[in-house]
Amino acid sequence: EGYFTYDPGFVSTAACESAITYIDGEKGVLLHRGYPIEQLAEKATFLETCHLLLFGELPTEEEKAKFEDIITHHTMVHDQLSDFFHGFRRDSHPMAIMCGVVGALSAFYHDSLDINDPRHREVSAFRLIAKIPTIAAMVYKYSIGQPFMYPKNELSYSENFLHMMFNTPAEEKPINPVIARAMDRIFLLHADHEQNASTSTVRLAGSTGANPFACIAAGIAALWGPAHGGANEAVLKMLDEIGTADNIPEFIEKAKDKNDPFRLMGFGHRVYKNYDPRAKVMKQTCDEVLEELGLQDDPQLKMAMELEKIALEDEYFVKRNLYPNVDFYSGIILKAIGIPTEMFTVIFATGRTPGWIAHWHEMIGGNNRIGRPRQLYTGETKRDL
Ligand code: CMC
Repeated sequence: EGYFTYDPGFVSTAACESAITYIDGEKGVLLHRGYPIEQLAEKATFLETCHLLLFGELPTEEEKAKFEDIITHHTMVHDQLSDFFHGFRRDSHPMAIMCGVVGALSAFYHDSLDINDPRHREVSAFRLIAKIPTIAAMVYKYSIGQPFMYPKNELSYSENFLHMMFNTPAEEKPINPVIARAMDRIFLLHADHEQNASTSTVRLAGSTGANPFACIAAGIAALWGPAHGGANEAVLKMLDEIGTADNIPEFIEKAKDKNDPFRLMGFGHRVYKNYDPRAKVMKQTCDEVLEELGLQDDPQLKMAMELEKIALEDEYFVKRNLYPNVDFYSGIILKAIGIPTEMFTVIFATGRTPGWIAHWHEMIGGNNRIGRPRQLYTGETKRDL
């Protein structure tokens, strides 16, 4: 009695079986349903990747058209949902609103509460993939005091998101295809990453039979932290704090100092002990976007490159296999596109939604057993009052 494996931080515990994503952290390999992330980023769209994660295969042309049509026709949210926003302070952190509003979707789709019916589970998946970018853009519009923009059916997933973010009823500009492609890649590169903290949270919440909107809201909450999805926001804040390239050595020393809580944001990963394969693609996309926008000489970007170079040569980082991760470059791209820093983790959440929902789907459709970790009790032994 009382014998448990003690594994704080779950560094060596597999909590489930899964056929969705494979990672070899030593070699820097990431496969979705067997396909390397680099090939998906090159040849597939985010929505094709969503289909792959959810159903196990990339869609045929016919399936692709059908899937895109379904997602397009689920992008609107109930108008009453917009009332929820007005209960939040205008200066709320966007992730605070996301947690609440996504969870509130449960109140609008009662059929989704019946998780035992596979058709209901499927439609919940479509609703979440389709509506999260709409809600994300509403969060931004609310923060700047502009009217919410309705989605447009003739636009692609990423174009639609940029349209709802940056257009206004007074002026609708065409979406720049290079930026739309970059946005699509950012979503795609975040689409899934096996049992990370937020996905494990979705699985644990889902294992109780909670509805999918509540589970995804739990995932959004877990993603918020700076050690996870909050890192892309933290990278930009860190670059602001460093200020100029000549301050880099001082911050490198701070990062190495065990008595200083400062860490180099966008560096290191629990699983990758090699270059994060997503970071490579993200860097390439970063170059494309900066060239398109004529920002190649952006001083902050130059500083980021300098920081990367110095860190990659420093013995401390080399010895611990600390490489730039996906969030190091995504923040720079999002800033160049004009997305405010506080929205970065919301973008991550939008991209990660198909991964969360694919894991929830796999779990509920399989041999689900409630997740219930045990503990090593370290408190008082029995005593009397
Ligand atoms: N700066 C300085 N030192 C670091 C860093 C860093 N960014 N990351 C790890 N280390 C050190 C750490 O202090 C430890 O040193 P020692 O062995 O001397 O005590 C060693 O490297 C191993 O680190 P760890 O904390 O045991 O590793 P972990 O797997 O628990 O943490 C991590 C992984 C991602 C939380 C951590 O690397 C970190 O805080 N990075 C910065 C935040 C970040 O960029 N997060 C995004 C992760 S990728 C996207 C996502 O998953 O959401």
